[in-house]
This record gives sequence, structure tokens and C-alpha cells, in this order.
Amino acid sequence: MISNLSKYSIKETVFQAFYECRTKTLLLFQDIDQATFSSQPHPDFSPVGWHLGHIAYIESLWLLERGAGLPCFFPQYRKLFAADGLPKSQRVQLPNLEEILYYLDTVREKVLEYLKVADIEQQERLWHFLIQHESQHCEIISMVLELVNNQELRVKSQELKFVSFDSELWIFDSTKRVEMVCIPAGEFEQGNNSIDALDNEQPVHKVYLDTYWIDRYPVTCGQYRSFIEAGGYQNPRWWSKAGWQWLKVEQVTQPFYWCGERIWDNHPVCGVNWYEAQAYSRFVGKRLPTEAEWEKAASWDAKASRRRTYPWGDEELTTPAQNCNCDRAIGKTTAVDAYPAGQSAYGLYDTLGNVWEWTACWFDGYNGFQSYPYLGYSKVYFDQQHRVLKGGSWATRPWVLRSSFRNWYHPNVRQIFAGFRCAASEVS
Ligand code: AVJ
Ligand code: FE
Repeated sequence: MISNLSKYSIKETVFQAFYECRTKTLLLFQDIDQATFSSQPHPDFSPVGWHLGHIAYIESLWLLERGAGLPCFFPQYRKLFAADGLPKSQRVQLPNLEEILYYLDTVREKVLEYLKVADIEQQERLWHFLIQHESQHCEIISMVLELVNNQELRVKSQELKFVSFDSELWIFDSTKRVEMVCIPAGEFEQGNNSIDALDNEQPVHKVYLDTYWIDRYPVTCGQYRSFIEAGGYQNPRWWSKAGWQWLKVEQVTQPFYWCGERIWDNHPVCGVNWYEAQAYSRFVGKRLPTEAEWEKAASWDAKASRRRTYPWGDEELTTPAQNCNCDRAIGKTTAVDAYPAGQSAYGLYDTLGNVWEWTACWFDGYNGFQSYPYLGYSKVYFDQQHRVLKGGSWATRPWVLRSSFRNWYHPNVRQIFAGFRCAASEVS
């Protein structure tokens, strides 16, 4: 009886999550026109319609084919919607919205039939993986929609003059430090072994860190403005060799989502790549935090000597609006001090939600890493080409919002909803 009850509640939970997640996915397509659906505003990103079809494809592959042992019901979509099927440039020839919705619905109907008979205790992790997968594609869809909708706007705001750097003009008071929090030396537990944690978050392991300092808030637009105005984008002094090379090619002078109005000054800077984050950190005499430094400051409860799933504790994100800016509830960034209830034990604000935060680290596996559910999910990106981002953004779904979650991108990607905070080993 007890075992039946627990099976029932796992299935209930999975059903509920599948339902809520899909409802939110479909909301993104409510008022979409066919042009937006299949347009590719940037060669590095697939059209939103592709992501929608890919969600159905992965659900069908893992639950119906691999899980239930059923045949592939839509073999015609395999090449188009598999992640390794077609180059991104060839993903614009898409079935229309109605056809893809039919694909999603048909797969989902069979999936829910299968859920009734599936051995959920043995397969629980797989079902959770699919929620994780769909949630992540939702954020990419948000991002591509932002690219499509704001393209015109951005081009205009980027017509700002490219000012040449004059070293005499450079004035920045490095003694005017923004508020930092001291994290005393000691061990903490990094990672997450829970059923919804992805392969790259496991296993939980102890890490010792020396004393360090970390910004209480993400770097704001107002702070970043001083870097722009001081000629930061024109001075090689702040940039790594790779960063300067990237800048010379791209000739950018401001973050990707920069609007320039002072009303945004207390919002986190959004749309910077890893090189820009690193250059700003050097400009203020700091550095980017390592991933472990970020995670300890966001999740470790030193008093209780235990890790928290969320900065504020282990209570689920039922009403995200109280703790952080996520799930598109607001639809844009918010001020970095808008969520005092979301503080970590060490008093950091905004670690979850608002903007992803770049860390100093390459994406790599923890000791004892085991691929799940397939080699290509994480392991192929352990290539010293991808930097780790933490914390999620205003568009991140609650299912993937936790301090242990690890995102990764090439250091030159700036279309994501990413900012950063700085760290330092010593504060003078
Ligand atoms: C973790 C966001 C980098 O988009 O490639 C989606 C997530 N993996 N389908 C990506 C992912 C497989 C991944 N990121
Ligand atoms: Fe995917």
C-alpha cells in the first residue's frame, strides 16, 4: 500500500510538472506569426519553431522509443529535429506551427499513456531529465524571440560613436569599491545529487576555499557605464589577448542588451560575453569568481554546515516572484536589490534569476562524473572552450533554477541573458 502510494505521488509530481512546463512553453507561441516562427536572427541560434519541434523529438526519443520501446512515430522529423541532424542554417525550412503543435500533442498523448504503466521508480531520473530539457529550450526560445523583436531597436542604439581611447582621460577611483562580502576560509559542498540534478552537477563533493571576497550584487548597468565612459572598450589594458582579438573583430562598444537610459542603472548589466566580464573585472581591480566561489557564496549555510538548494533555503520556488526574478514573470531584468527575501546565507542578492553570471571556470566534469542520459549531453563540452555560467535569468524556468545548476557557453557569446559579479582574493 505504502509503496503504491509513493509510486502514485511520483507519477502525480511528474504529470504535474510535465503539464505546467508544457503550458508555459506553449504560452511563448501564443501570438507568434509564421515569419517569427521560422526566422533565424543570428547564425548561432536556431529559429524558435525548431526548438519547439526539438522538444517533441527528444521527448519521443527518450520516453517512447528508448523508454517504452515503441517505434518512432514521426520518422520524417528525425533529421530536422535531432540536435545533430542538420546545420543550424538549414533549420529554417520548418513545418508550420499547427503541424509542430500536432507533433507535440501526439507525442505527449502517448507519453501520458505510457506514464500510467511505466516503472517510475526505475525511470524517475529520465522523466525529470525531460523537464530539465524542455525548460532549457524555453529559455533559448525567449532569447531568440528577444533577438527577433529587438533587432531593429538594437541597431539604432548601436549607432553610437566609436570614441577612440585617450589615456589622459582615464579616471576611475579604484578605492570606490562596491559592497563586497567576505567568505571565510573553509570547506563547503559543491554539486547536487537530487533526482532532478543533471549529470554535470553530480556527485556532491567537498571543496576547500581560502578566504575570498565577492560582490553582494551583480554588476549594474550604472557601474558598467563607468567602464564604457572611461574608454574601456578602447583600452587593451583591460582585455585578455583572446578578448582583445574578439573585440577588434566585432568592434562593439556596449553590452548587447544595453539601452543606455539611466533608469536602468540599478539593473544588472545584461548581454555581455565572458571577455567583457573579465575586462570589467580587471578595470575595477577585481576578477571573476571561480564556479566554486560563486556556489559557496550562493548556497552554503556555514552556521548549519550544509548546502541549500536555493540561496534562501530548501523551500521550493512556488511563488518565484518573492525570491527572485525568473520564469518571465516580469519579462525583463529588475533592480539588483529588488529581492531581499532571496538572499543567500552569506547575504548575496540576486544569485538566482535576473541574469546568468559568468564564472572564471571552464566547464568540466566533477570527480566521478558519469554521463546521463547520453554522452553528448555534457561531456562533449568538457573541451576547454566553454565557460560556466551560474544562477539563471529572468527567463529561466523554475525547474532549472538552483545554485548547483551549471550552464555553459563559448566565451564570445553575448546574446544570452548574462551578466556577472566580481570577486577578489584580498580587499585593500
Ligand atoms: C546548457 C543551454 C548550453 O542549449 O546546448 C539543450 C542545453 N542541451 N538540449 C544547450 C541543452 C541539450 C544546453 N545549454
Ligand atoms: Fe536539446
